[in-house]
Amino acid sequence: MTFPTPSFPSTRMRRVRRAPWLRALTAESILTPADLIWPVFVVEGSGVREQVTSMPGVERLSIDLLVKAVADASALGIPAIALFPFIEPGRKTPDAAEAWNAENLVCRAVQAIKASSPEIGVMCDVALDPFNSDGHDGLVKGGIILNDETIECLVRQAVCQANAGCDIIAPSDMMDGRIAALRKGLDENGHTDVAIMSYAAKYASGFYGPFRDAVGSGGALQGDKKTYQMNPGNSDEAMREVSLDISEGADMVMVKPGLPYLDVVRRVKDTFAMPTFAYNVSGEYAMLRGAGDAGWLDYNTVMMEMLVSFKRAGCDGVLTYHAVDAAKLLNG
Ligand code: PBG
Repeated sequence: MTFPTPSFPSTRMRRVRRAPWLRALTAESILTPADLIWPVFVVEGSGVREQVTSMPGVERLSIDLLVKAVADASALGIPAIALFPFIEPGRKTPDAAEAWNAENLVCRAVQAIKASSPEIGVMCDVALDPFNSDGHDGLVKGGIILNDETIECLVRQAVCQANAGCDIIAPSDMMDGRIAALRKGLDENGHTDVAIMSYAAKYASGFYGPFRDAVGSGGALQGDKKTYQMNPGNSDEAMREVSLDISEGADMVMVKPGLPYLDVVRRVKDTFAMPTFAYNVSGEYAMLRGAGDAGWLDYNTVMMEMLVSFKRAGCDGVLTYHAVDAAKLLNG
């Protein structure tokens, strides 16, 4: 694209930057609390509040405290939360059966949140890792992560979450063909209005480290997730992943992690014009928070600058552990 721009001195780019009202008027991307999805960690018990060591300011909460925190987030204008469970080691098995126990921690949390804050959207992660004694997103046999057998488990898990009242099913497992199977399973069980946000382009990333502490899956994990999550150098492959998930019935697509993959976000948005999201993951949060706490960066400034970069790259919304901090700032 070429723009007919008269040159200096008739053009002065600084003219529209000279005052706050003028900068506001010419702003291209803006961030609002409605752009934020807040990932939260739930733990068994009551009155339990545990600091996640590698994510200062992020806590695992028992359901009673989580319900209050979610109501506060809703009052700040945050439209949705994403729920992740810390499952007690004793409930983890090689078949991950706890994932589709209708009384599991996730289902009870969904029910409690929807009962107290019905106006907020609840999104549930579909993947076996919190429930699997192997720490992988799928079933493991002889060191191989099984695809088709895992999908059957994921469908059970998703239907169980939808029965509990979950609004958005978010498969993060990266098995092939899971979106079609999930859509079919949800529809057959009367959940035609439950949406799917697919972790469509999810990379095998070192930035998930603090999350694995938060849900307690890091210790169990044997090896890495490179046979199902994507190679960080690939972007054409991300287009194929996203295209497959859309054709299988995804309502919304996600790129993950966020910051190191904003080029992929832009390509996805331009190519598919879908509701597009990015997950500003645990390691990204830890970097900013750590540098902020050390006094090396101004936390609020870099947080807002980083969050608006997701909007500029083409995101309709962003999953971020900064959601509450950012919404408070935005609300003044
Ligand atoms: C697992 C899952 C992961 C995250 C969300 N769901 C970790 C992984 O794939 O190992 C990462 C989120 C984060 O780092 O904040 N299915």
